[in-house]
Amino acid sequence: MENERRVPYACHAFVCTNDRGGRRKSCADGMSAALREALKAEIEKRGLRGSVRVSHSGCLGLCADGPNVVLYPQGVWFPAAAPGDAAAIAARIEALIGRTPEA
Ligand code: FES
Repeated sequence: MENERRVPYACHAFVCTNDRGGRRKSCADGMSAALREALKAEIEKRGLRGSVRVSHSGCLGLCADGPNVVLYPQGVWFPAAAPGDAAAIAARIEALIGRTPEA
């Protein structure tokens, strides 16, 4: 395809915010929207905005394990994530993209 280009982010984090309104388990049951906001704030605080993108996603298919966060292109998955995990996930992202000495 003519318009193909490289991904502009070192890491793209997708936070499932699918909400089934209690009819079946979904990631929104575990406050995934708040998790997304907390992760965005952590990324901003660490100066990673521009190289790391945090997006919400629809169902990622492993609802029983949710709330789910997945990182691409690293292919790292965080199941059962909570808003309180945002700092740890952001720290892991920093390490994965080589922004910390231990990476
Ligand atoms: S509702 Fe989040 S993975 Fe299905």
